[in-house]
Amino acid sequence: MKFSKRMDRFGEGIFATLLTEKNHQQAAGKHVVDLSIGAPNIPPAPHIIEALMSAAADPKNYIYAISDTSELQKAVSLWYDRRYGVAIDPETEIVSLLGSQEGLAHIALSIVDEGDVVLVPDPCYPVFGDGPALAGAELYYMPMVPEKDYLIDFDIIPDKVADAAKLMVVSYPNNPTAAIAPDWWYEKLIAFAKKHDIIVLHDNAYSELVFDGLTCGSFLRFEGAKEVGVEFNSLSKTYGLAGARCGFCIGNKDVVKHLKMLKSNMDYGMFLPVQKAAVAAITGDQSCVAATCAAYGHRRDMLVDGLNAIGWKIEKTKATMFVWAALPEGYTDSRAFAMELLEKAGVLITPGAAFGPSGEGHVRFALVQDDDEMIRAIESIDKSGILKK
Ligand SMILES: Cc1ncc(COP(=O)(O)O)c(C=O)c1O
Repeated sequence: MKFSKRMDRFGEGIFATLLTEKNHQQAAGKHVVDLSIGAPNIPPAPHIIEALMSAAADPKNYIYAISDTSELQKAVSLWYDRRYGVAIDPETEIVSLLGSQEGLAHIALSIVDEGDVVLVPDPCYPVFGDGPALAGAELYYMPMVPEKDYLIDFDIIPDKVADAAKLMVVSYPNNPTAAIAPDWWYEKLIAFAKKHDIIVLHDNAYSELVFDGLTCGSFLRFEGAKEVGVEFNSLSKTYGLAGARCGFCIGNKDVVKHLKMLKSNMDYGMFLPVQKAAVAAITGDQSCVAATCAAYGHRRDMLVDGLNAIGWKIEKTKATMFVWAALPEGYTDSRAFAMELLEKAGVLITPGAAFGPSGEGHVRFALVQDDDEMIRAIESIDKSGILKK
């Protein structure tokens, strides 16, 4: 059998590697606290499950959806108006995604040709680069460093690269660094994209998981944003709907039109009961959103306070479901450290280098376990002696 050259760039994904290591430890009878993959464990609110169940009980809802119902389009438009103060045309400025991951993997196919340049953050959520790479793009990495609060610095991108770029992917609140971006940064982003004629994709998966009284909005609220790009949003974390696969691409009409066309040749739309659940989520009682945010904020406090108390000095992250931590003193290799932590403490985390070269020197904790497991993780790290190197 012969397979595509395209696959040569993919090794085994980091989470598959971590899972294999976890399985080894568990097979040896060890307990593992898994804080690696960002799989949310907070379920949807009852009214959302109810909407899904009653739609699933109707035999008429098992046809191909083909496209988004006008009920869903209107609900997304109302949601963007109510939550972000952004006016969105329901028919032309929205297309649903089978999870934003699906859209991130495919959108570049509608924008770039072989060899076109795409700008992606470093470190970044892996599919930001993998999607464009599958489309044959050349990736140019924009470093995000702690000294600049993990904000992409457009001034250091060479003009030649910027002029060649067709698409850029950006995202705040950010995975993995948990950084948020101020208004001036978005204004610079739009000016940069206009100057160099680059389509912007802003991934906004974590706007609702922001702590300590801070708030984040939508990229689309800034003047000129819709002229240059789109925003991806996801119901996975905000409403606990990760397994239902429900996200949206919202904004620039042309970008939406091209993605819709591409998707109409690839999938037959979102399962109608999931569309009903999405409507219930974004138009119904929003107290579940605040409760989810509070739960992640509580886990962040437990983890960061706990690690600080045992000698791993970490600052409190402002947003997302992740804690991004510089390696403890005495360590420089994030992969080696993550493996040692698994072996000695039974705690599985993601090495920063897995998100790109600028992620080296850090690790990412996903806040995906309940209190008891978080306490267990901190106690095991302390007992393992790994911080006393
Ligand atoms: C930044 C970011 N974007 C997108 C996704 C994927 O979300 P979805 O479940 O909508 O595919 C994730 C999931 O962890 C993420 O962290």
